[in-house]
Amino acid sequence: MRYRVRGLDIRSENAAKPHMQRSQAVVQYLRRLNPAESVLDFGCGKLRYADLIAKLGTQALLVDSQIQLTRKQRVRGKMSTVADVAISLYSNVKVLASEKLDSVRDRYDIVTCINVLSVIPDRAALREALRTIRRLTKRSGFAVFVNQHRNTYFKQFAGGTPHLFGHLYQGRNGASYYGIMTKERVEKLLRRAGFTIGTSWNDREINFVEAYPVVT
Ligand SMILES: C[S@@+](CC[C@H](N)C(=O)[O-])C[C@H]1O[C@@H](n2cnc3c(N)ncnc32)[C@H](O)[C@@H]1O
Repeated sequence: MRYRVRGLDIRSENAAKPHMQRSQAVVQYLRRLNPAESVLDFGCGKLRYADLIAKLGTQALLVDSQIQLTRKQRVRGKMSTVADVAISLYSNVKVLASEKLDSVRDRYDIVTCINVLSVIPDRAALREALRTIRRLTKRSGFAVFVNQHRNTYFKQFAGGTPHLFGHLYQGRNGASYYGIMTKERVEKLLRRAGFTIGTSWNDREINFVEAYPVVT
């Protein structure tokens, strides 16, 4: 997804890491979840955890921006697109551009949102993403938000311009934003977006927050 912030173009799709760089804490968490009928991964990136998401749900929907899903890039070792690789690897998976989520009426048992909140440099877009996730989560289901509150890149980013929950940073490949999403910060944003907090914990530099849509 592309954002325009303080005169800078932020190409958040460039923040997605490849399959080889997985967090073991996230892998173990996804493996331990009970399988569900339907799973939605919001901000699937370059399919880093897609195999586990596909195993978790009888059906799974992978969502990211149109540009992330359709641009040619190296995905799971070959030059292709995220959409094509996902469909060819997993028979129970569909992909959808987040720009089209307004038309989705289905709700999902589990919604995963892994390392996405930290790349959204705009408060209104962040609120919109959380409200969309709440709408797409079944009343009997839950959404899980995984974020990093510390990592080796933070020092480099801290040299940039303070913005929202982190910094804007001008690198060799353009501008980027990294927000430091602590567990407490994520919980506060989720409450404001209409979730109640279930279980939440820190696992070294990563935090997990499981949240339930408030029934109104
Ligand atoms: C750091 S990557 C994480 C990708 C993947 N979840 C992972 O952990 O490997 C962040 C992803 O969020 C996507 N993204 C940013 N804003 C978004 C939005 N508003 N809706 C959907 N995806 C978004 C970006 O395109 C990017 O692929």
